[in-house]
Amino acid sequence: MGKGSGYGKVILFGEHFVVYGLPGIASAVGLATDAVVTKSGALSVKDERKGTEGYSGSKREQQRESFERMFDMMGLKEKGVDIWLGGELPVMSGIGASAASSVAIARAVSDELKLGYDDAKINSVAYEMEKAFAGNPSGIDNTVATYGGLIWFKKNMAGGQNDMEKIRVPKPVEIVMGNSGVVADTKAMVAGVAERRKQQPEEYDAVFKKAEALAVKARAALEKGDYKTVGALMDENHSLLQQIKVSGEKLDELVAIAKQNGAFGAKVTGGGGGGCMVALTPGKELQERVASAMEAKGFQVLRTRIGV
Ligand code: PMV
Repeated sequence: MGKGSGYGKVILFGEHFVVYGLPGIASAVGLATDAVVTKSGALSVKDERKGTEGYSGSKREQQRESFERMFDMMGLKEKGVDIWLGGELPVMSGIGASAASSVAIARAVSDELKLGYDDAKINSVAYEMEKAFAGNPSGIDNTVATYGGLIWFKKNMAGGQNDMEKIRVPKPVEIVMGNSGVVADTKAMVAGVAERRKQQPEEYDAVFKKAEALAVKARAALEKGDYKTVGALMDENHSLLQQIKVSGEKLDELVAIAKQNGAFGAKVTGGGGGGCMVALTPGKELQERVASAMEAKGFQVLRTRIGV
């Protein structure tokens, strides 16, 4: 029996833009997906993760493809394994559930088959698996799912090693993640941005330039623990995500609730179109106020911290 885990994540800055080699900032959320893998005659999956109804069903095909990619990458002809998935990370779009499960499964297979993979190898297998869910992923999700922490990430567009640096904050800070309840397809969202960018190159170029500048400023503000500035930059980032059309009605409603209740900043996180948003809410009191305001409107929320 082999075991493995992968962290869930929240993207604070730069989702979608990271696909094109611009910098992004993401953090692990302290909740993980766990996998247990046992050799057997055929491939079987028992998915006991908690989360959005319909999520696992609609992602089943992509999950199957991700397993094929994993076996190929590992050079395994024998694909008979029983895979169990569980853990504390709720399965919802925007929280990096697919990357967390890819890392957990790759670790558990390596453990069960005594492959001895280190983190770098697990990360590259999980990246390959992520292609099934995201089409042309940047690699930010699997990197956080593998290493945890708060990171600065830049995809190497030439295909070499990506730039990944840990960011240190003076002390951990509270966030709220609000779930729109809408299951989103990251692959379709990424493809949609690519399509619109082709049609409006100048407009998109201008937005991309702003996104890059935002991430650079945000990193400096995070390192200083200047959360007023970080929050204002998150608001600007949300507006850029609206401009590239990856927000949605429910997500905008959640962002508005967060801001009305005192969040320092709020934005879509991850692929968008549904899935989650994130609000920066320093202090337990503010976190609680924002979270319960969302819950009062019927949304599912996650109270957590970044920079732990
Ligand atoms: O929807 P998620 O949580 O899988 O996040 C995807 C992040 C994107 O930037 C939209 C895609 C990527 O590969 O970076």
